[in-house]
Amino acid sequence: MTSLRVLSVASEIYPIIKTGGLADVAGALPIALRAEGVEMRTLVPGYPDVLNALAKAEGVLEWQQFFGGTIRLLSGSCGELDLFVLDAPHLFARPGNPYLSPEGKDWPDNGLRFAALSRMAANIGLGAVQDFVPDVVHAHDWQAALTPAYLHYSGRPRPRTMITVHNLAFQGRFPQSMLAEIGLPPDSFNMYGVEYYGDIGFLKAGLRFADIITTVSPTYAVEIQSDEGSMGLGGLLRDRSGDLRGILNGIDTNVWNPATDPAIASRYDAGDLDSRAANKSALQRRFGLEQRPDTFLLGVISRLSWQKGLDLLLEAIPTVLADDMQLAVLGSGDADLQERYRAAAQANGGKIGAVIGYDEELAHQIQAGSDALIVPSRFEPCGLTQLCALRYGAVPIVSRMGGLEDTVTEADTAAIASGAATGFKFAPVTTDNLAAALRRAHAVFGDGPTWRTIQDNGMRTDVSWRDRARRYADLYREMIALAPA
Ligand code: ADP
Ligand code: GLC
Repeated sequence: MTSLRVLSVASEIYPIIKTGGLADVAGALPIALRAEGVEMRTLVPGYPDVLNALAKAEGVLEWQQFFGGTIRLLSGSCGELDLFVLDAPHLFARPGNPYLSPEGKDWPDNGLRFAALSRMAANIGLGAVQDFVPDVVHAHDWQAALTPAYLHYSGRPRPRTMITVHNLAFQGRFPQSMLAEIGLPPDSFNMYGVEYYGDIGFLKAGLRFADIITTVSPTYAVEIQSDEGSMGLGGLLRDRSGDLRGILNGIDTNVWNPATDPAIASRYDAGDLDSRAANKSALQRRFGLEQRPDTFLLGVISRLSWQKGLDLLLEAIPTVLADDMQLAVLGSGDADLQERYRAAAQANGGKIGAVIGYDEELAHQIQAGSDALIVPSRFEPCGLTQLCALRYGAVPIVSRMGGLEDTVTEADTAAIASGAATGFKFAPVTTDNLAAALRRAHAVFGDGPTWRTIQDNGMRTDVSWRDRARRYADLYREMIALAPA
């Protein structure tokens, strides 16, 4: 196997800075790819958290004038991750959320900030760092999506390019007036270039110019070509469908391992599910729920946003209460949803608990202690929490969307009999269908041995990166086998 060099470009990376699953993927894929003979380095913005986490940092480039300021490109590592860091204090020396100001608004210069990230990725792609000239540049989401466009318009021999869509809802649209400032030629502003409904479309440009487009599940790859699921980009995605692939995400099975997890009260594995009881009891305590070992305990770990369908779960609370279930919600996001969950918990103490915030340890505790994990998303490119749930023996109850459809097998009679059942699914995504799925799951929960089999099936499902990383590696190799760009 010949070694291959890939530059990954991402605006967040676990364990340094994370707002969602993108960071998990950006942090786990490079490590999983090593077994495939792929040497991946990741270019990330020099936020304060990143600069603090960077070990063995070395300056590899220094430019006086780059997108309005003096910058350095650093090379270094963080744990097992090899990083390039764009140290551009005028763009990234801002603590906290990578995209939002302390008032919770998008930074007004986000277009400039992530164009700079993409420009630097293109420069590395063109050979700016002598000891790491990549064969492939792999950009993630809109923040990195101008990379293939810069490479295209450079007019120089370039590496192959891939863009991965983690979420089509975030597209990065900025005014045409920025074109010169971000260094794109005037003739790039047309429908075959970077223009998107009169603006510059970062994601659109990436989808237009990347050699290969991937997204994070086979079903989402189909959904984003449909009128309902394509969020305005359907024409382009259908045009490019020959170059579009869906590859499921995995999870880091070392970080998510109930047999070794330091965050949970009682460690366990598939052969020893009785030990989960202590975790359930700890979770009930943590959320102020009644200590009842036999009550069906539902968990949620999520951003609180329209995408995630958690307003539907609020509307299904009468079912939760009438059927004597318990609910433990960990989430943050929309102020309105936060408030409504707080209020629901207050009004139904002992039965419903809510922690508003972001808490990794608690996320592990919910996976280890709840009987079922609910993911009622209106759309879900892949979804990672249901994968963690499978690994932890929390049975997923999910909508039939995107990666949720691809990673959970409905516990119908046939699937229970054949040993394939891993969870419960519902569609279309409505409150009634969610409530019905909760009741269906509750009924099966009452049948202890069957429930145990479903948990076992989930825990035996391969949710690791191994096979999925291989698919990326195969695709990189396919790309460079094509004629040079
Ligand atoms: P998305 O990226 O759309 O938010 P994913 O399911 O792909 O959804 O990834 C979400 C990731 O963020 C998972 O690793 C999940 O455990 C984590 N997460 C989400 N909300 C919280 C929270 N409030 N506290 C801790 N972890 C969270
Ligand atoms: C996005 C999607 C989520 C996916 C994650 C990682 O945030 O919303 O479904 O799992 O990216 O690919």
